[in-house]
Amino acid sequence: MPRTDRPRILTGDQPTGRLHIGHWVGTLENRVRLQDEYDCYFLIANMHAFTTRAAEPEAIRRDTLDLVKDWLAAGIDPERSTLVLQTEIPAIAELTWFLAMLLPVNRVLRNPTLRAELEAKGLGDSYSFGFPLYTVGQCADILAFRAELVPVGADQVAHVEMCREVARRFAHVYCGVAPTTPDADYERAGGVFPVPEAMVGRVGRLVGIDGVRKMSKTMDNAIYLSDTTAQIRAKVARLHTGRQATTDPGDIANPLFQYVRAFLTDPDRIRTLEDRYARGDAIGDGSIKAEVAAAIDALVAPIRERRAAYDGARGDAAILELLRAHTARANQVANRTAELARAAMKLDFARPG
Ligand code: TRP
Repeated sequence: MPRTDRPRILTGDQPTGRLHIGHWVGTLENRVRLQDEYDCYFLIANMHAFTTRAAEPEAIRRDTLDLVKDWLAAGIDPERSTLVLQTEIPAIAELTWFLAMLLPVNRVLRNPTLRAELEAKGLGDSYSFGFPLYTVGQCADILAFRAELVPVGADQVAHVEMCREVARRFAHVYCGVAPTTPDADYERAGGVFPVPEAMVGRVGRLVGIDGVRKMSKTMDNAIYLSDTTAQIRAKVARLHTGRQATTDPGDIANPLFQYVRAFLTDPDRIRTLEDRYARGDAIGDGSIKAEVAAAIDALVAPIRERRAAYDGARGDAAILELLRAHTARANQVANRTAELARAAMKLDFARPG
């Protein structure tokens, strides 16, 4: 059992397919690193997957197991951290209702991340009722664990901001906490929930190999944590820079150099490359791409290897077993939160508060 006297983290991913190197620099490396400092809860947002794929339960189940495999391979340690399978946590569904009453519908629909997703997915006005609701559900995910810190990629900050608003509002409306209370003091002042903070990784938004859009599975521009050396090389080679000759002064803000800074580990080497590229000092894109591909390969090689250990039915069985044990652990915390919330709302009728 992990020590529980540390501040809590709650964060997670929607199971939509394999994780990529954008996840790694955006948030995954933070999550792996913070497992000793924080009591960490990592949530598989499988309910959210149904917002756009309600008719694909089997694919969602598959993606759910795959996400956990990717996490474990990346270094999420089930001995120190708790895995949270969203649909196994009744308190999250209950809190979603409670919080939904405190958020004006226009506030929810104005959420810039929600708007961007509707646009990107071309959903127009034909999306499910559950789609905007997921943003409220995400507030409930975080607050059910009374988390103080939420490590996420840059695109999720708008959701954490909404969560902060609703956490404060709950405290004002039901816990007698004064609106002038500093965010850091909400629990001490009698609030059920801390006002959580987002933490964005060192590269909040990694450009995809198309050189234009954010790296994402749906845009087919991602380098996956499970890609082979050859796949990584081929993908990096596709990066377009528009540069003609090794003596052309290059633009060190281009996608290739975003990768140089994100994945090369030696700061001196990065500076040298930037300097020579900017001056067009007989340096070809091909050699830089080879260096970038090697650096990415070095990062993902151990992940790829550990991932292979979970292949097949034996791997599935191990993951299911883990999820069962972790669900019990997660529900201890989330059920307690729900009790506290019900008591604050004068709803402590039949169950002990
Ligand atoms: N919406 C997040 C994503 O698509 C996943 C998520 C669900 C999440 N609940 C969360 C992230 C709570 C952080 C905290 O990546």
